[in-house]
Amino acid sequence: MSKNIVIHDYDITRSHRNKVNGHDSFVLWFTGLSGSGKSTIANKVEEELFYKGIHTYALDGDNIRSGINKGLGFTKEDRYENLRRIAEVAKLFVDSGVVTIAAFVSPLISDREQVKEIVGKEDLIEIFVDTSLEECENRDVKGLYKKARAGEIKNFTGIDAPYEAPENPDLKISTEEISVEMAVKQIIDYLEETHRI
Ligand code: PPS
Repeated sequence: MSKNIVIHDYDITRSHRNKVNGHDSFVLWFTGLSGSGKSTIANKVEEELFYKGIHTYALDGDNIRSGINKGLGFTKEDRYENLRRIAEVAKLFVDSGVVTIAAFVSPLISDREQVKEIVGKEDLIEIFVDTSLEECENRDVKGLYKKARAGEIKNFTGIDAPYEAPENPDLKISTEEISVEMAVKQIIDYLEETHRI
C-alpha cells in the first residue's frame, strides 16, 4: 500500500447491510469462451434473483470495458489488468451487500485464481459455461470468430489465444445439453441448496 494511507473503519459494515437486506452478498463468476452463453445465462439469473427481492448488479464487458477499463485490450497483460480491476470492483460490491454477477471470458487459471484471492474464495462461486469452441464458432453471434480466423483480430480466445477450462468449478453448465431455462434453474437450485439465498 502507498505511504501515508491510513484506512478508516466505518461503523456500518457488510454484515449490517446483509442483515438489513435479508441476504448474504457474494460473486457469481461466469467464465467461458466468447459466445458460450455467459451473458445470456447471467442476465436471466440476475432477473430471477432480482425478482426474489435480492440486491443484484451485473458486471460485464459493456459496462466495464467501455468505462473503467476503456483502453485495455486482449493481450495477456491487459486481460490480467482487466480482471484484476473487475475483481476489486466486485469486492466493493460484495462489501456493499450486493450479489454481484460477473461474466468475463477470464481464460487463464492464474488470472481466475487471482480474482478469487482478491474477492475472497468463500465469497466467489465459479460457474464454468462449458460450450465447445466448435459450437461457439458455429453460433458466431458477433462474427468475431470469422474475423479471428481471417487474421483480422489477434489474440482471440480459442483461436490464437488460450482458454484454460476450470478443473474444479463450483458449477458447470453444459449449454449444448440443456436450455437456458434449465441452466438458470441449475444455478438457482445450487444457491438454495448451499443456503446462499
Ligand atoms: S477477458 O479475457 O476476460 O479479459 O475478456 P472480456 O473482458 O470478458 O471480453 C471478452 C469480450 O470481448 C470481445 N472480444 C474478445 N474476446 C476474446 N478475445 C479477443 N481477442 C477479443 N476481442 C474482442 C468478445 O466479444 C467477448 O465478448 P463475449 O461476451 O465473451 O462474447
